[in-house]
Amino acid sequence: EKGGYEHFMLKEIHEQPRSIKDCFRGRLNVDEGWVKLGGIKDYETKLANAKRIIMIACGTSWHAALVGEYLFEDLTRIPVEVEYASEFRYRNPIINEDDIVIAISQSGETADTMAALNLAKSKGATILGICNVVGSSISRITDAGSYTHAGPEIGVASTKAFTAQVTVLTLMALAIARKKGTLDDSRFRRIITELELIPNKVAKILEKAPKIEEIAAVYKDATNALYLGRGNSFPVALEGALKLKEISYIHAEGYPAAEMKHGPIALIDEEMPVFVIATKGPSYEKVVSNIQEVKARKGKIIAVITEGDTQVKAIADHYIEIPDTDENLTPLLTTIPFQLISYYVAVMRGANVDQPRNLAKSVTVE
Ligand code: M6R
Repeated sequence: EKGGYEHFMLKEIHEQPRSIKDCFRGRLNVDEGWVKLGGIKDYETKLANAKRIIMIACGTSWHAALVGEYLFEDLTRIPVEVEYASEFRYRNPIINEDDIVIAISQSGETADTMAALNLAKSKGATILGICNVVGSSISRITDAGSYTHAGPEIGVASTKAFTAQVTVLTLMALAIARKKGTLDDSRFRRIITELELIPNKVAKILEKAPKIEEIAAVYKDATNALYLGRGNSFPVALEGALKLKEISYIHAEGYPAAEMKHGPIALIDEEMPVFVIATKGPSYEKVVSNIQEVKARKGKIIAVITEGDTQVKAIADHYIEIPDTDENLTPLLTTIPFQLISYYVAVMRGANVDQPRNLAKSVTVE
């Protein structure tokens, strides 16, 4: 049932070109120029008029929510707050009846997320869900929602569920932005055209698995690792670090690249691998400076760069090239090399990739 792969995680990583396509199938038409999410159709106006959206989730789903925050704020201009479900709940949160709370959960069974949703519901907020498991508890208690359609995810480390969550959040943001009129026609068309190309671009990155495996071999004995990114690459850095932690048991931290100089830079020496997302975009030059700061302290740079890049290529110890895409969609691509790095490192260390110690696929205790 692993489809010829050694582990479910590797199978699920490789399924992403298909799972992303399944996620937007019937929801996106580039020729006719529309995006629609049947599940939330009745709430589109409410969403477009919302003064605030609160996203609640845990773990990887929380990282997807952070990507969602960038998407929603940029495309719809609605303020978004992203909360850990567990923290939201115990803080006596301010929730109004015109707030919309979106819960993101692969399993749809996470106890903290359920409890936070119940609280939001009791305060009169509209609650929506983005779940993978059809008929799950969260999908049942929410007013409406959209499934991610990634198919069953068996590996405890979430991979294809994450990219599907980000895809649904992209579609949602696009649909609301159109309704609200915050996204002009040409930009809308550009983004949906690029979105449709994402599965093929993910497939192109997956072809680089042998090169990524070689990089993993170099750093498999590291005891620490740092992941850096700016803007919507910051949540991808967090996700990269979580993935490495949970399956290889190497201590890793994700940081906004510019925050490095406020503390973590003290950790950098010749033993420290620093994974940096340095794709083309508004903060490219700033990230190049951050890379130079790491190199000046003899840290090792493993950079994810856009095809055709020369500047970072010349200074990085290792680089992984990914195809160019719309800025809003880069997380769907930049996350792939990090999934593979974690996978190979964990395998080389002899760890139980699909069932890491102390972890369960769905966390049903609060
Ligand atoms: O099923 P959920 O998306 O609600 O699960 C949330 C987290 O428990 C989950 O993402 C966890 O962090 C994964 N093991 C990450 O790979």
